[in-house]
Amino acid sequence: MKISGSTILITGGTSGIGIEFAKHFLALGNTVIVTGRDHAKLDAAARTLPGLQTIRSDVTDTHAVADLVEQMTTRFPKLNMLVNNAGIMKGVDVLQPQDNLLDLTQEVETNLNGPIRLASAFLPLLRRQPSAAIVNVTSGIAFLPMPPSPVYSAAKAGLHAWTVTLRMQLQSTNVRVFEVAPPLTATPLGTDTFHPEVIKGIPMMEVERMVAAALKGIAQDKYEIRPGMSNVMKTVSRIAPNWLVANMLGATVDKMRQNAATSQAH
Ligand SMILES: NC(=O)c1ccc[n+]([C@@H]2O[C@H](COP(=O)([O-])OP(=O)(O)OC[C@H]3O[C@@H](n4cnc5c(N)ncnc54)[C@H](OP(=O)(O)O)[C@@H]3O)[C@@H](O)[C@H]2O)c1
Repeated sequence: MKISGSTILITGGTSGIGIEFAKHFLALGNTVIVTGRDHAKLDAAARTLPGLQTIRSDVTDTHAVADLVEQMTTRFPKLNMLVNNAGIMKGVDVLQPQDNLLDLTQEVETNLNGPIRLASAFLPLLRRQPSAAIVNVTSGIAFLPMPPSPVYSAAKAGLHAWTVTLRMQLQSTNVRVFEVAPPLTATPLGTDTFHPEVIKGIPMMEVERMVAAALKGIAQDKYEIRPGMSNVMKTVSRIAPNWLVANMLGATVDKMRQNAATSQAH
């Protein structure tokens, strides 16, 4: 897929992996539009990256998605790449009382339902272009679940399945479907979700390296891009998934509970 001279929409493009994608796509001569929920973060992104276009839009709000499609169709009718990147991650201890059941499934709304809705809503516009792409940002966790983040793990595994089926349904069209599955990456989501003890021993990739690998993969028409540990996780998921989850990742739940108990005590 050509990664220059395109019009690219990146959801959640004000931070971490999204803004790094935006920086590189701009440098490659693309028109880049990013979304996010927070006005201040959108303004800061526009100041940091001259030429960047920003639109406030929440992927979980169906009215906002319809409005985004309308705005993009009018202002950027040549849109030919949609990067479904917006995402959130939480630690969830199922033994703790869940007061807000809607909040409990927010990662499914954002990380799974969001990309499904956006792909469906933007397909008519993407189908009008000579060549187009949908890039879904999943996770290495799509292949092997992370026990302290059960809802996130379920959402990302679901997004992986949706991406595979979307690719098959669109294979005879002008729209190619890519999956970028980052490993643990040094972004606010990667570093701030858990206490460092919980993720100790899991290699953390720099965001520049992660996005460079993703761009190389997209340019080479590699449809499932698994940088660093994500490739290992996919392989292990086929050979010994239960062993790794029980013996290595299983300890992360104990560490999450220990940390929660320590912070409550203080
Ligand atoms: N970092 C990692 O270790 C890692 C590993 C694997 C996969 N990923 C995936 O990579 C993607 C990017 O994550 P990141 O690490 O770059 O996180 P990040 O730095 O926290 O950035 C997340 C971005 O998503 C936006 N966002 C969140 N909820 C949104 C919503 N409902 N509608 C629109 N925008 C929304 C945020 O802006 P607002 O808050 O202003 O909306 C922000 O721009 C996510 O899908 C994540 O699951 C990350």
